[in-house]
Amino acid sequence: MSGRAVLATSLALSGVSALQLPVQLPLQQFVPSKLPWSSSSDSGVDSELIAKPLVDSETLQKHITSDALKARAKDLYEIAKKSEDEYNHPTRVIGSEGHLGTLEYIWDQLSQLGDAYTLSKQGFPAVMGNVLESRLVIGDKVPNTATAFALTPATKNKQPVHGDVILVKNQGCDAADYPTEIEGNIAFIKRGTCAFGTKSALAGKAGAVAAVVYNNEDNDDELHGTMGTPSPDHVATFGLSGNEAAPFIKKIESGEKVDAIAYMDAMVESIKTTNIVAQTTRGDPENCVMLGAHSDSVPEGPGINDDGSGSMSLLEVATHLAKYDVNNCVRFAWVSGEEEGLLGSDYYVSSLSPEENSKIRLFMDYDMMGSPNYAYQIYNATNEENPVGSAELKELYIEWYEKHGLNYTLIPFDGRSDYDGFIRNGIPGGGIATGAEGVKTKEEEAMFGGKAGEWYDHCYHQLCDDTTNVDLEAWEINTKLIAHSVATYAHSLDGFPKRDVDATIKAESYGSQVKYHGSKLVL
Ligand code: PHE
Ligand code: ZN
Ligand code: ZN
Repeated sequence: MSGRAVLATSLALSGVSALQLPVQLPLQQFVPSKLPWSSSSDSGVDSELIAKPLVDSETLQKHITSDALKARAKDLYEIAKKSEDEYNHPTRVIGSEGHLGTLEYIWDQLSQLGDAYTLSKQGFPAVMGNVLESRLVIGDKVPNTATAFALTPATKNKQPVHGDVILVKNQGCDAADYPTEIEGNIAFIKRGTCAFGTKSALAGKAGAVAAVVYNNEDNDDELHGTMGTPSPDHVATFGLSGNEAAPFIKKIESGEKVDAIAYMDAMVESIKTTNIVAQTTRGDPENCVMLGAHSDSVPEGPGINDDGSGSMSLLEVATHLAKYDVNNCVRFAWVSGEEEGLLGSDYYVSSLSPEENSKIRLFMDYDMMGSPNYAYQIYNATNEENPVGSAELKELYIEWYEKHGLNYTLIPFDGRSDYDGFIRNGIPGGGIATGAEGVKTKEEEAMFGGKAGEWYDHCYHQLCDDTTNVDLEAWEINTKLIAHSVATYAHSLDGFPKRDVDATIKAESYGSQVKYHGSKLVL
């Protein structure tokens, strides 16, 4: 059946006479490129009548400008300032006025795109941790590398607790690893094998008043972990570097006693937050190209690069895509609670029925698109370890950078952003980034410019992640690549692997390897 015939049928069924069409336009302009699934309901008719050319990558990319992105960054910073009353500085952390304003802004901008998209909001409960103060003294030493784990509870009555440091056997993943002397004392647990949250809960069950997880690597690095899902068994939990833990372990193993004071003033609360999803009204809804960015920031700052950049890239691409017809449906997601541990993306994927899940052909993650000391990074997804199709997506990015004479690096695909839930649930995925707290190498300086020996984003998760913290050139280039990815797959998924039943098995092996769940370590 030709497109013209489809249109005629739908018009006839909906009772709209062809004579009511604006007559100036040549007939073929009214013919949708291919809409075998088009509905004949009243609501479906309007969008079919408007002439729109089929999306094409080069054309969509041409709409992307750094000026528009810069203006978006400014809007977002103004919105982040709405949190100043509560936080004393701009932030878009979930639950804040700055985040609510971000959601309102995205929703409002999308609402202005007519009937190009079907918009939806998905509310979900999110746990939020807030560590107001923490202190750890071991023996007569105040360790330099002591950290408070995200989502840790407070010490009892938010008061300092005192006890002996008790070494936990093995890696503290089994109740039997916790000696009876733990009761009323402070558990010293080696990192590894199981999640930090598991260790803390076992320590709590054994009666510990606090827990310290020390790194299993011999270095001075701080250990930034998260408890994962809060549990009533959790006790106040600290991280400690391997090097700082070593002398205490030695002492205790030689039979000496070491005592400690732990203090944690912290809160874990549950709030409601929201994912926003926009799906094209056109295109085959059985075959959706999905992409996402996170709408929230950390409490410390306004999050303009992380992930205001990705969020605004998506908004720009959605705005311009609205002018075009698509063969495959495109679904944009602004997920929330990424910084609290990929909450929104996990919630979104887990709430999909198997049938809905199978309609998502791939998921593309766009988190941190314009780091000031950027590298063009592509997630090193493979078809061996990830759902089939992930490697094809990686190839699309590689080809685009190569075609534009740009260098790129491949970075671990290890659960640090919102692709994680999709991959775990069998959906092929990938994405690009420009770097967070990693240090640029000499080779990378030669490849991308910028400064070796410094972080890709020296304001990562800090107050200074403001409008000056984005490299506009990198951001524009990456937004063009986002446009290319969307346009390519919206145009055609021919040759892109069909959803694979074996993907779930791969998802399981992937899940057992990842150390991260969001920006913090879980294990
Ligand atoms: N998920 C991290 C964040 O939002 C960003 C990140 C992704 C950092 C991948 C490094 C690697 O903070
Ligand atoms: Zn972040
Ligand atoms: Zn991020």
